[in-house]
Parts: sequence; structure tokens; C-alpha cells
Amino acid sequence: MSLQVACKASAVASGAVRRAVVDNVMLAIVHAPDGQWYALAGQCSHMGSSLAGGEVIVDGDTCLLRCPGHGALFDVATGRPTTGPAFAPIATYPVVLDGDAVLVDVEGVK
Ligand code: FES
Repeated sequence: MSLQVACKASAVASGAVRRAVVDNVMLAIVHAPDGQWYALAGQCSHMGSSLAGGEVIVDGDTCLLRCPGHGALFDVATGRPTTGPAFAPIATYPVVLDGDAVLVDVEGVK
């Protein structure tokens, strides 16, 4: 596992998403309202919109990220779309919190 700093935890409010780049991999870092952290591919699998510009939504026990392009919803834990127009999943990456650092392993793609 090769963890690298993606961003400061204090820079991402609960329920927010932020853009980060690690090893030239564009990421969307999600700080879920339940306190969990997620790192997803930064580009939508539909037409490539930046998911860091999206909206974090909670639906029951599931945290979702809405693409700002055309509204596809992705499960932040699995990267799978739950609504169209995106049909292909996006990559998710292991995340570890170390103090104020959000560490992501972009080699550990799921
Ligand atoms: S670019 Fe994301 S839904 Fe179209």
C-alpha cells in the first residue's frame, strides 16, 4: 500500500466533496455526514464531468455523490452508479485518516 497525502481533513467539511490529485490521478474526496471518508475517481464515467463539483447526498444508509454534469448518482463506497445516465462504475481508492491528513492509495484501486 502506498498512501499519499491527498488533502487536509480540516479543508473538507462534513457532507462536502473536494478535488485532489495524487500521482496525476484526479480524485473526488468525500467526507460523508457520518464521518467516513471516501476517495473516488475524479471524473464521471458518463461524459467526464468533475465529480468534485458534485453534491453529497444521503439516502438511508447509503452515501451518494451526484455528478454535476447530468445528475448520475454514485455510491461513494463502491463507485457504482445507482441512476443513469452513467452506467459504468468509477474507481474507488483506500483512504486512511492520519491526524489532519487524508491519505489515499491510488495504487490500491478497487
Ligand atoms: S457527465 Fe456525469 S452524468 Fe453526465
